Amino acid sequence: MLVLGIETSCDETGIALYDTDRGLLGHALYSQVEMHNEYGGVVPELASRDHIRRVLPLIKQTLAVANCDLHQVNAIAYTQGPGLAGALLVGASIGAAMSFALQIPALGIHHLEGHLLSPLLSTPAPSFPFIALLVSGGHTQLMQVDAVGQYRLLGETVDDAAGEAFDKTAKLLGLGYPGGAALSKLARRGQPGQFKLPRPMLNSGDLNFSFSGLKTAVLTLINKQDSTDQIRADIALAFQEAVVQVLTEKSLAALSQSGLTQLVVAGGVGANEQLRKNLSYKAGLIGATVFYPELEFCTDNGAMIAFAGAMRLQAMPKKNLQSASSFTVKA
Ligand code: KG4
Ligand code: ZN
Repeated sequence: MLVLGIETSCDETGIALYDTDRGLLGHALYSQVEMHNEYGGVVPELASRDHIRRVLPLIKQTLAVANCDLHQVNAIAYTQGPGLAGALLVGASIGAAMSFALQIPALGIHHLEGHLLSPLLSTPAPSFPFIALLVSGGHTQLMQVDAVGQYRLLGETVDDAAGEAFDKTAKLLGLGYPGGAALSKLARRGQPGQFKLPRPMLNSGDLNFSFSGLKTAVLTLINKQDSTDQIRADIALAFQEAVVQVLTEKSLAALSQSGLTQLVVAGGVGANEQLRKNLSYKAGLIGATVFYPELEFCTDNGAMIAFAGAMRLQAMPKKNLQSASSFTVKA
């Protein structure tokens, strides 16, 4: 089965073709990040308009890369939500139109399910069951993934997502948007031990997180110091250390509570070098393995949506396939 995946939930237009026999045949991504950068965050109206501009050329490009004809596509998978309503509607509308024109099913996929399953696109891939740490700009969750469609929420942020905290702190440090990668780059020049920031909810006894206080603590720190380059780097490092320690310890707690030995890290913050280093080292000490999707599958992309769609459609009885279409968005 050949599935065309469409991701338009935020500021990336992602298209991919996944074949259940041959794997990922092609994928293309257009990031709007430069367009939103000058506004310091994603402007929803601009995002929707840009998705409209990009989506069809990207579909053509992906079909060409995969050497496929549109009529070979057996099903569409598009991101149903969560995300920006207008942006989601672009993907859903294209999905509905293609489904109608080609007489094939179109299935709405939960954006986070895409992220949760994205590690299965990389080699080596984890096997079910595993723990997933989902850390993006909009979400921070620990999930137990038993099978496709069987997800158990173990804990989540009670306020800001980890990526959001990175972005807001980066803004306070005068870095552009989104600032996670830039903050992490700045932190490389930081001197350890110059500043100590709180570890929110580290000892809360559950698997929940809180990051909004950390950003406020950074603001207080910035207001007390001269803003030299070195001090900014020291603060960036202190902030990153705090987030990384909390994410690491809660992930390890999820592993030991569940008795599982595989941890998957998904979402944009999973690109963070210090988080990767720390998690792999600490997990190794307890005999667990950490899986990271390739960087291009860590952030928003069409491949994870095509893949999740293919897994869902494959699990569906054949007689239900024709009526599998769903055209709602959940912002
Ligand atoms: O998964 P994603 O591409 O989009 C969604 O939010 O769904 O994640 C984007 C988030 C942003 O907040 C960005 O700042 C963060 O991932 N990010 C990072 C790094 N690279 C991206 N955060 C920390 N360190 C990084 N290297
Ligand atoms: Zn995402």
